[in-house]
Amino acid sequence: MESIYIHGGIALQGQVRIQGSKNAVLPVLAATLLTEGTSIIGNCPRLTDVFYMQTLLESLGCQTVWEEGKLKINAKKAGEIHALSEMPEEAVKGMRSSIILLGALLGRTHEVRIEYPGGCVIGKRPIDLHLAALKKMNVEFEEKSFGLYAYTEGLCGAEITLPLPSVGATENLLLAAVKAKGTTIIRGAAREPEIKTLCDFLSLCGADITGAGSSTIIVRGVEHLAGVEFEVPGDRIVAGTYLCACMAAGGEVLLKEAPILQMQSVLETAIKMGASCQTTPEGLYVQVHDKLQAPRKLVTEPYPGFPTDMQSLFLTVLSLAEGSCLIEETIFENRFHTVPCLRDMGAKIVQTDARHVLIEGVEELQGVRAAAQELRGGAALVVAGAAAKGETIVDGCHFIERGYENICRDLRELGVRIYGV
Ligand code: EPZ
Repeated sequence: MESIYIHGGIALQGQVRIQGSKNAVLPVLAATLLTEGTSIIGNCPRLTDVFYMQTLLESLGCQTVWEEGKLKINAKKAGEIHALSEMPEEAVKGMRSSIILLGALLGRTHEVRIEYPGGCVIGKRPIDLHLAALKKMNVEFEEKSFGLYAYTEGLCGAEITLPLPSVGATENLLLAAVKAKGTTIIRGAAREPEIKTLCDFLSLCGADITGAGSSTIIVRGVEHLAGVEFEVPGDRIVAGTYLCACMAAGGEVLLKEAPILQMQSVLETAIKMGASCQTTPEGLYVQVHDKLQAPRKLVTEPYPGFPTDMQSLFLTVLSLAEGSCLIEETIFENRFHTVPCLRDMGAKIVQTDARHVLIEGVEELQGVRAAAQELRGGAALVVAGAAAKGETIVDGCHFIERGYENICRDLRELGVRIYGV
């Protein structure tokens, strides 16, 4: 699918089941490399980044197969994983999460060759924190013509303080620590729900981890991890995307299996703006019938603060709310790519610098042809199209397919007139 066509301006009505979480499942899939045996991952979303990770695991020697909607991975016996094989360039470059294979492979085979992961339009996204922390665990790195060669004579537990709570660095450290000799203490760890999910998976496999979900995580290394059956939680950003679609276009929707407890800061903002958000046994029930009120300021922060991944979606919502709002993006240095498209649709947005935009809500948006440049920004343009009068066409939809199983199917279930070609 390359383009999405939306005939917008109609209030939403319907219910949709929220897919499994992309950012939770990717480190879990990397973690299967540390197990000897088969893991079965249920509620695994079928999307580009998961297919990339599946390709990478296969290139390393794992056997993978989809069975009844679950992804089965056999990481085989010790000695059968080839960490020095050349990983497919498209998968490594196409997906930044390829970097978490580093911690897992060091834990499994003690040596890795990996190309630098792909850059990304939302910011520079360096890996200096990953490398500095792994060095403390007895890993050495050499720059090679192909990228990075990493090896260890044996991972050792260490006390590590992360200068900022990087999600990827915390995941890499956890993956390296679970089979290291001795105890690893990670201070300043990221507290995102995806970290807790990874710890839950590893603990089920036999790892010894305490403090998951807090900023200090203690890992005592173990010798063996076993393959297990595991269910991926719902995707908080996908649920937030459809919440925003309802906030922008109005209406009533039920987001079945939305991970409500992981969405508190987003729900607080939505409720403050005037949306009704109720927890029901089936999921999140959202009603939006009146014009929403803009908060004066919205600041992105590490979890449990307002997530950067929801920022561009709220930029769309705020374009149609009453009043003005200043958004401050504190996590990534270049995450306002939808501003020119929203302006073309009639939004009033002033970008004061790379990290701040001021939005003054307008009565309505008009459909235009727009191009997605990255995942969440692309979804935010689709949400804008669902709210706008007339037809919107969003090109570059391969970005959206990295994180959404089928955004057209899901929004159709919520009553949006939308199709992809
Ligand atoms: C994860 O990226 C998510 N990706 C991102 O979601 C999410 O936006 C981000 O966490 C923040 O919540 C996945 O889980 C696959 P970080 P990650 O390391 O791990 C800087 C989406 O749309 N930094 O917490 O890469 C970095 O540049 C994606 O699904 C360093 O300086 O995020 C950034 O400014 C987009 N050096 C900040 O830290 C490092 O070594 C946070 O990055 C590592 C990070």
